[in-house]
Amino acid sequence: MAVIRLTLLVLLLANAALADDRRAAVNYMLHCQGCHLPEAEGFEGKVPPMKDFAGYFLHTQDGREFLIRVPGVARAALSDEEIAELMNWLLLSYSAEQLPPGFSPFTPAEVRALRAIPEQNPELARRAVLAGIAAENPGLSVQPDEP
Ligand code: HEC
Repeated sequence: MAVIRLTLLVLLLANAALADDRRAAVNYMLHCQGCHLPEAEGFEGKVPPMKDFAGYFLHTQDGREFLIRVPGVARAALSDEEIAELMNWLLLSYSAEQLPPGFSPFTPAEVRALRAIPEQNPELARRAVLAGIAAENPGLSVQPDEP
């Protein structure tokens, strides 16, 4: 009996994890894809690429905070939980290689605190954040491309 109950629990948990990924993907389509495009590749000169890039931001605390304070995220019509789920999914799906070792996922509480203070000047903040990441991690050679 215990084995059956355990199997059931594992199946339930696995299903919940899948459902979250699906919900994140749907939320991306509804709330982000219009600007960021289907593969998070961005739009040269207008919207920065998140694909093969967003993970770099996790190399500093400022960068981590910037990812949530950027207006497209902070002001999205999504709950704190949905944003945490969406950002974690996005980073792991499109920029896992750039993540620092031991990346700790965003939590809803962290999102709530950060989005309360949206970035007023994202272009300026982005440049400062990327310069900080490059200075702290000389090996990374993150090139601040113009958004
Ligand atoms: C109306 C267009 C638009 C929408 C919708 C939008 N974004 Fe953005 N996003 C931008 C632009 C433009 C930038 C560059 C910074 C700025 O000007 O805000 C950006 C920057 C970002 C960044 C910082 C990346 C970097 O390299 O600077 C992240 C992360 C991000 N967006 C995630 C999202 C997510 C997640 C969503 C959906 C919840 C979303 N955005 C919705 C246009 C948009």
